[in-house]
Amino acid sequence: MSIDAAAGTFRRSRTVPVHRALSGLMKDPVNTLAEIGRRAQGEVVRLELGLFRPYLVTHPDHVQQVLKSDWTNYRREGMFWRPLRRMIGASILGEDEPWESSRKVLQPLFTRRYIDSIAGEMAGVITSRVTELDEYALAGQQIDVLEEMSRIVNRAVLKVLFGDRITREEGERLAPAYDTAATSINFRLLMPFMPYSVRVPGDRSFMKAVRTVDDVVFPVIRNARADSGDGLDVISALCRVKGDDGTGLDDRQIRDNLVSVYGAASESTAMSLTWLWPLLDAHPGVAARLYEEIDRVVGAGPVAPEHLAELHYTRMVLQELLRLYPAGWILPRMAMKSAEIGGVRIKAGAQVLISPYSTHRLDEFWERPLEFDPERFAPGAHERMHRYAYFPFGGGSHQCLGKHLFYVEAPLMIAAILSRFRPQLATAGPYTPFPAASLRPREKVTLNLGPVRHGPGAAA
Ligand code: HEM
Repeated sequence: MSIDAAAGTFRRSRTVPVHRALSGLMKDPVNTLAEIGRRAQGEVVRLELGLFRPYLVTHPDHVQQVLKSDWTNYRREGMFWRPLRRMIGASILGEDEPWESSRKVLQPLFTRRYIDSIAGEMAGVITSRVTELDEYALAGQQIDVLEEMSRIVNRAVLKVLFGDRITREEGERLAPAYDTAATSINFRLLMPFMPYSVRVPGDRSFMKAVRTVDDVVFPVIRNARADSGDGLDVISALCRVKGDDGTGLDDRQIRDNLVSVYGAASESTAMSLTWLWPLLDAHPGVAARLYEEIDRVVGAGPVAPEHLAELHYTRMVLQELLRLYPAGWILPRMAMKSAEIGGVRIKAGAQVLISPYSTHRLDEFWERPLEFDPERFAPGAHERMHRYAYFPFGGGSHQCLGKHLFYVEAPLMIAAILSRFRPQLATAGPYTPFPAASLRPREKVTLNLGPVRHGPGAAA
């Protein structure tokens, strides 16, 4: 074990050597990392994992430095990002030119005003997909939560991105391909130093998933390009873009951005909502308040955008859900130049791991941090909180574009489900966070939906 002891004015970073960290990191990497951060009480920690020696940065001041004040020095490059590039290409999820021009094009498409303008359509799509769950309820069959949340989110996100330009069959090929990509990348994320010349478990499935995505997306782009019209959907907007020199985006640039936004939007939302059901099961008081609010505001449904402003408790539940289970559980960066964080010297080329999951569990910033308690987000309760003690959507220049979309889509989904069913958890847990591209439970979560409560064809 070596200590990263920089001479002079720099402090020693705490270190966690490989023999102490590895077994925990193999068994439960997400909680092991969080525990390391908790024990260090927000100090910078160096993880000595053989060839891989990243810094874990959890203190909100340090997070702010990396994501906001010195963000140009901490780039989305290096071992963690490399495996993802094979799917997302050069896009908004990159740096420099592809990121800058993509952000300029995409940001106006995800404003509150724009999302509000399509919320009605989104509510319709969500309601119709949730209604399809009746067949499980009527047959008394359990649902696989992750699969069903992904299907509902997929339908809503496809509407935003592709409008009516993609068929249902094409759309339904995308979600499983992404799911395969998100999980088969795991080995490379855990062993980021492994060269690409060496084939590792998951590589073949990953590349097959990339081919499936390309087979679906490229033909849709070509059709949209032939008739981009004035459609509100994202693909039409990307086809219409003209740079200062009058040239537009080529098919590859459009593909890379669509694929990146689809991935960022669908996986994150679906995985977050998968965690909701075990939490409600374990907290019947929270579940009762949520049911009461949805019964009072939405009643027999269908849910509509007008209900959103009154779903206060639903929003608090979602905020607390994203505290405990932030889908973007780790935000890896590479230091470009040598720098200093919290008095610790960070050498050029070092990997810096920002982890919302870890920061959201620091005792120094949260009372009873491991408990699920939506009251933390009651009006006024969190106003004096450090901006970077809670950052499920990141921060600084790379801050998530989809925050508003999430807070429209997720309450609509929860309200659509709970106005129709009273789901009961069918599997006992406990659920371990699995470090895929978005945080997901390692164990399958299944639900009994119970009888259909409202609406046409109600059985209850
Ligand atoms: C639970 C829901 C979501 C969570 C927790 C989440 C989280 C995040 C986080 C932490 C980042 C910062 C990444 C970084 O700093 O490297 C990010 C970026 C991003 N998110 Fe989300 N996201 C969610 C939903 C969405 C949705 C619905 C969209 C759809 C538009 C979206 C689009 C993006 C994009 C395009 C970026 C990259 C922005 C940039 O680098 O300029 N996200 N997201």
